[in-house]
Amino acid sequence: MRTLVSRLIHSTPPISRLNATAVRNLCTEPNKVDEPFKVEEAETVNVPPPPTEKLLVLGGNGFVGSHVCREALNHGLSVASLSRSGKSSLHDSWATDVIWYKGNLFSTDSLKEALNGVTAVISCVGGFGSNSYMYKIDGTANINAIRAASDQGVKRFVYISAADFGVVNYLLQGYYEGKRAAETELLTRFPYGGVILRPGFIHGTRTAGSMKIPLGVIGSPLEMVLQHAKPLTQIPLIGPLLTPPVNVIAVAKVAVRAATEPVFPPGILDVYGIQRYSQQHK
Ligand SMILES: NC(=O)c1ccc[n+]([C@@H]2O[C@H](COP(=O)([O-])OP(=O)(O)OC[C@H]3O[C@@H](n4cnc5c(N)ncnc54)[C@H](OP(=O)(O)O)[C@@H]3O)[C@@H](O)[C@H]2O)c1
Repeated sequence: MRTLVSRLIHSTPPISRLNATAVRNLCTEPNKVDEPFKVEEAETVNVPPPPTEKLLVLGGNGFVGSHVCREALNHGLSVASLSRSGKSSLHDSWATDVIWYKGNLFSTDSLKEALNGVTAVISCVGGFGSNSYMYKIDGTANINAIRAASDQGVKRFVYISAADFGVVNYLLQGYYEGKRAAETELLTRFPYGGVILRPGFIHGTRTAGSMKIPLGVIGSPLEMVLQHAKPLTQIPLIGPLLTPPVNVIAVAKVAVRAATEPVFPPGILDVYGIQRYSQQHK
């Protein structure tokens, strides 16, 4: 008898277990939920969409051009560059993501090949030398590129031109006449998608061979001081010399925005406009 009683006691579920069972049973009533539904989340795989914009940077291995390439890659664009020496001496890791064309703006064939499938162009080609050379490289070479891009149906074209520098304009006549001739061609051929950036001195880190030249050491403090002296630039002849320098990263940022944003206003952007657009968030 004692054994029977003991067996009954041990086969009875303990109170706590009874309670738990009762609660569970209560909660199985319709309209009552004892635990929130656990929905198995589908695994999200972060595959970036394939780039739809293909940007061609003319002079992508130069000082401004290399910063433009890097900025465009950061935006997920497909980036190609055309210059006489191709990839040249750039050893930075981002440079492997650029398609490098060796070519010359004076050769229609090399331009045609590089422009294949391109939606926007940023030209950073320019240079100094004799007046006739400067007119050729800043003017004629860029006019060739603008015409070729327009003929191939490119939507947007950004040209890195230069601010007027008063008396300096007379000393660098070929340079400024070339720049203004290329600007006129751009506004004619790309009335809705043509943007001209007119920076003064551009500072930042310029690569020359294996050397990095920190132009910002002079450029940054000058930019800080001169950006507040805009009225002084109105003084005839010498005033434009007080145009503030601008950082190469700001120029690159605005160039890429101008090349890719359909609502970016066409026309000429001076150094103050470049500073303003570079500080805006999209
Ligand atoms: N740096 C400044 O302070 C400043 C200020 C105002 C305006 N800008 C303007 O900004 C632009 C870029 O200046 P930057 O300082 O970057 O000049 P940069 O370093 O000398 O670059 C010029 C680029 O043009 C390429 N190039 C020259 N002739 C070419 C040709 N016939 N065909 C194809 N590519 C050619 C060069 O590459 P290859 O030699 O390999 O061909 C190089 O990539 C220029 O138009 C300049 O006038 C510059």
